[in-house]
Amino acid sequence: MLAELHVHIEGTLEPELIFALAERNRVSLSYADLDELRSRYEFTDLQSFLDLYYANMQVLRTAEDFADLAKAYLRRAAQAGVTRAEFFFDPQAHTSRGVPLAEVVEGLAEAVAAGRREFGVDAAMIASVVRDRPVHEAEEVFGELLRLSAPIIGLGLDSAEVGYPPSLFEDVFARARAEGLHAVAHAGEEGPPEYVWQALDLLGVERIDHGIRSLEDPLLVARLVDEQIPLTVCPLSNVRLRVVDSLERHPLPRMLEAGLLVTVNSDDPAYFGGYVDDTFAALRDRLGLTDEQRETLARNSIAASFD
Ligand code: HPA
Ligand code: ZN
Repeated sequence: MLAELHVHIEGTLEPELIFALAERNRVSLSYADLDELRSRYEFTDLQSFLDLYYANMQVLRTAEDFADLAKAYLRRAAQAGVTRAEFFFDPQAHTSRGVPLAEVVEGLAEAVAAGRREFGVDAAMIASVVRDRPVHEAEEVFGELLRLSAPIIGLGLDSAEVGYPPSLFEDVFARARAEGLHAVAHAGEEGPPEYVWQALDLLGVERIDHGIRSLEDPLLVARLVDEQIPLTVCPLSNVRLRVVDSLERHPLPRMLEAGLLVTVNSDDPAYFGGYVDDTFAALRDRLGLTDEQRETLARNSIAASFD
C-alpha cells in the first residue's frame, strides 16, 4: 500500500497531452513541437517552473479536459503502486483565465470516480490557494467551491512562497477548518522555517508540504517529531528546482534519522522527471536508501493520509 499525498494534478500534464488538448480546443501554442516544448523544462528556481506550469494550463478548458488529465495521472499512479492519491488542484489558475470552476470540479470528480472503478486507486481532491494571487480572490473562490458542494477533502496553499507567508491566509483556512475540511500548506520549500511555524500555528495545518528547510531550525524539528506532523517531501522536485544541490545530497536520510514522519511524492511529475515509482527507484539507486527505509516511507504515507 502506498499513498501519494503531494501531487498537483496540473503538474501531471504531459507534453503529449498539451499538444492533444491544444488541437482539440484550437489553442495556438508558442512551441512548434514536442522537442521545442521539452527544451523549456530546465528550471533555475520555483518561479521559473511556475511560469511554464501556468502557461501550459491554457490548453485546459472543459470538464472533459480536466477528466482526461486526472484519469491519465490515476492510470499512471496505479502502475506506480499508488493505492491512495490525494491530489491538489489550483482553482484560481483556471477561474482567473475565465474557465468556470464548475467545469474544473466536474471533470476532476469524474476522474476520481473512474480512478476507483477502473484503476483501483482511491483518489481525493485538495483545493489549493494560489498564494501569489490576491487574498480576497482565494476567499471568493473558496466560497464558490462551497456553493458548488465541490467534493474536496481539504484546503492547501501553493505557488510562489517567498513574500507570501501563511499568515495572509488565516481567515480562509479558519473557514475551511470550520467546514470540517483538512488543512495542509506548502512551507519551507524556498521559504524560511518561520513559514512552517506559521502554517502550524496560524493555519492549523495537519501536514506540511515540502518542509525541508525545517532542518535549519532545531526547535521546529523537535516540534514536528514530537507531534509527528507529516512532511510530504518531493526529492525530484527539490533537485529540479534547485532547492537541493543533487539527489545524492538530499537530506531525506537525515530527516528519517531525526524521527520526522516523512513521505515521498512526485509534486509535478510531468515536469520533474518522474512519478512516485521513479522517485523510489532513484532514491534506491542514487541515494542508497535501503529496503527498510523505503518500507518506512511507504508506511508513513499510509499513516499520513486522510483516508
Ligand atoms: N511549489 C509551490 N507551488 C507549486 C509547486 C511547488 O513545488 N508545484 C505546483 N505548484
Ligand atoms: Zn507542490
